[in-house]
Amino acid sequence: MIGITGSIAAYKIPFLIRLLKKEGAEVQVVMTPAARDFVTPLTLSVLSGNPVYTYPFDEDDGSWTSHVELGSRADVMLMAPVTAATLGKMANGIADNLLLTTYLSAKCPVFFAPAMDLDMYRHPATGENIKKLIGFGHTLIEPQVGELASGLTGAGRMEEPENIVKVLKDHFAKRRQFAGKKFLITAGPTYEAIDPVRFIGNHSSGKMGFALAEAAAEKGAEVTLIAGPVKLEITHPLVRRIDVASANEMYEMCKKYFPAADVTVMSAAVADFTPEEIAPQKIKKGDQPPEIKLKPTVDILRQLGREKDSGQVLVGFALETDNELENARLKLKNKNLDLIVLNSLKEQGAGFGVSTNKITIIDKNGKQTDYPLKSKKEVAEDILDRIAELI
Ligand code: CTP
Repeated sequence: MIGITGSIAAYKIPFLIRLLKKEGAEVQVVMTPAARDFVTPLTLSVLSGNPVYTYPFDEDDGSWTSHVELGSRADVMLMAPVTAATLGKMANGIADNLLLTTYLSAKCPVFFAPAMDLDMYRHPATGENIKKLIGFGHTLIEPQVGELASGLTGAGRMEEPENIVKVLKDHFAKRRQFAGKKFLITAGPTYEAIDPVRFIGNHSSGKMGFALAEAAAEKGAEVTLIAGPVKLEITHPLVRRIDVASANEMYEMCKKYFPAADVTVMSAAVADFTPEEIAPQKIKKGDQPPEIKLKPTVDILRQLGREKDSGQVLVGFALETDNELENARLKLKNKNLDLIVLNSLKEQGAGFGVSTNKITIIDKNGKQTDYPLKSKKEVAEDILDRIAELI
């Protein structure tokens, strides 16, 4: 589906539709009222071979266009060109026309190709909106630097149709990469109960594991995501999410799903120790501070490493504060892993809570690859590229 908004770059969309049709795509256009001043619905309808929608309600025949149905039919939604105003509405959930209601109810991946004058593009509000949309998991098709309709030269020209088609083709090619493969991914912390109100936990946010689950699903994998207590949402239809709290619950679920998994990635920060006993009632303040006796949890990854057969790929994480490489190599060997992803708490922008990460991957043969600081989404792509080499 293509969503067109009121920018002069709309004149390029008929050409884009022709290119997409040549690639075998079915194209459905939804346009805002302002977009109709730049390109005619008739042209778009002839080229796409489908009716073009702008309004939810047709005054002539009284028919209603369901934005929910439009959104659910699409494999991808491409907003192009998207103006500063529509970017702002998308980022803030303002749905004041058919295109925006369709956008809000669409469950498919969204791509957006902004087009505007350079000062509008440079404005911090636009920057914030774009960041927010990327945060929603949408893909920015960056505008190019060039001559703009205002006569000024700078960033703001919508990407050329040929390149937009390339971005979409890459997306569909990637979507088939892990088709039919089963992934088991763990994420987040575990909570080890002390009494009904208290627990021992850690600072893991689960962002890395969720980014991995989302990225694997986008490449066609069927993902079972076992999540400790986190404040994250995931809606991809190929992700089955199972919430657990303790290390033991996580272990039980891993045992259940591991035998069928082609790839297992343990990115959860699993507690190494748990209270020997859980007090049945809230522990009261006494004269003496209470002593909490701990016992070790199962090392899930080590256990899976023992059970793994030759066709299965097993990936672990190592979070280290010192002797990083040495410790990571030891874990790789002791836990019988194919890859270990090392993140050091010493690196700025890596570790807990943040949206970025800086990793080193070591493989079974001892090959070490250092990656620069990237978003957790990009880091997930790097890890999956390495997994793809193994399956
Ligand atoms: N892990 C696990 N089960 C545990 C502890 C850790 O499956 N009970 C997994 C983690 O998910 C991670 C890897 O083991 O993929 C390494 O975790 P980390 O905490 O870095 O290392 P540990 O093996 O726990 O060793 P240490 O705490 O001594 O560094």
